[in-house]
Amino acid sequence: MVKYTIAVLPGDGIGSEIVPPAVNILKKIGIKYDIAFEFKEALIGGAALDAVGVPLPEDTLKVCHQSDAVLLGAIGGPKWDTLPTHLRPEVGALLPLRKDLALYANIRPVILYPELVSASTLKEEVVSGTDLVVIRELTGGLYFGEKKREKTATGERAVDTLVYTTEEIERIARLAFETARGRRKKLTSVDKANVLESGRLWRETLSRLAAAYPDVELEHMYVDNCAMQLVRAPKQFDVIVTENTFGDILTDQASMISGSIGMLPSASIGGQVGLYEPSHGSAPDIAGQDKANPLATILSAAMMLEYSFKQVQAAEDIKQAVASVLNKGYRTGDLVQEGKMVVGTQEMGNLVAGEI
Ligand code: NAI
Ligand code: MG
Repeated sequence: MVKYTIAVLPGDGIGSEIVPPAVNILKKIGIKYDIAFEFKEALIGGAALDAVGVPLPEDTLKVCHQSDAVLLGAIGGPKWDTLPTHLRPEVGALLPLRKDLALYANIRPVILYPELVSASTLKEEVVSGTDLVVIRELTGGLYFGEKKREKTATGERAVDTLVYTTEEIERIARLAFETARGRRKKLTSVDKANVLESGRLWRETLSRLAAAYPDVELEHMYVDNCAMQLVRAPKQFDVIVTENTFGDILTDQASMISGSIGMLPSASIGGQVGLYEPSHGSAPDIAGQDKANPLATILSAAMMLEYSFKQVQAAEDIKQAVASVLNKGYRTGDLVQEGKMVVGTQEMGNLVAGEI
């Protein structure tokens, strides 16, 4: 029997509601496929701040490093927004955790389940059949460049810096070319090379590497145009690769193709230990109300099985289970559709588990 240890970091907000259903499903998968999962829970974000006063305790990092993969819920909320920057959940926990685990690539598939075509705010003929993946650079760019804040005679001055090295661009680009090679062989590199110097280096590097992937069609697109194209004609895309912040924004936008941000999973890879988390945040507006859609987290657990454990069949099993529950007409409140049954977070989790 294979054995894997999974670090479980629910976080705060809806994090503690959406992670248990995913863990429960992994337990069922373990029984079905004869995999011995050991789950080690640890604190992060607001939950850690409240308990021990720091957003990313040393113990949590240790648990992550000693595990085979990490399952993360979400963190952040108004309660901790006024803390100094380095203590805020996102800057003080999420970014350093990704950096510490050397997770430079964030993979976000955007798939529209046929059952959810009418849940999308976009027209059926525009979105149906969309199958794209965004590869977001995760440990460089605007979120990681030097930050500064200083007083001026009349107010303050705040600085963020967008930095990339050739090596950082090359490694994410190679992963993107390889991913496109295994799919429909089209890669769209998204930058702002008409204005940003880092964007020019990004574009030059992608163009240079393209010679090694003659079977992949590379196109360059400015990020503002990409934002438009994603809602105008999303089916034109196969693989998109882009800078950290651009990827963050574009994937929230792209989530509307799949009906809800509650449907969008992610995998962060590149280091020894992969990290799997929904693409959304801690949704303080619906936290504690059993309203959150757990499917993004459940589908992130499926990505864990696929990427970290090479259990492709088990991952497929989870995706099928989700499709089956949607097919039977069950929806969480974020996916309101005529004539469908609205269920809570827990019930949705139980329904998916019941299909395994
Ligand atoms: P958000 O993604 O938490 O919520 C945006 C909207 O989507 C809200 O209306 C929310 O109710 C809804 N939503 C999100 N996930 C949902 C789900 N699973 N089911 C149903 N509805 C869902 O983004 P927002 O409001 O900008 O940020 C809230 C907090 O989360 C902030 O503190 C932010 O910094 C943090 N955040 C954390 C992330 C993480 O932990 N990886 C990522 C993004 C934001
Ligand atoms: Mg985001």
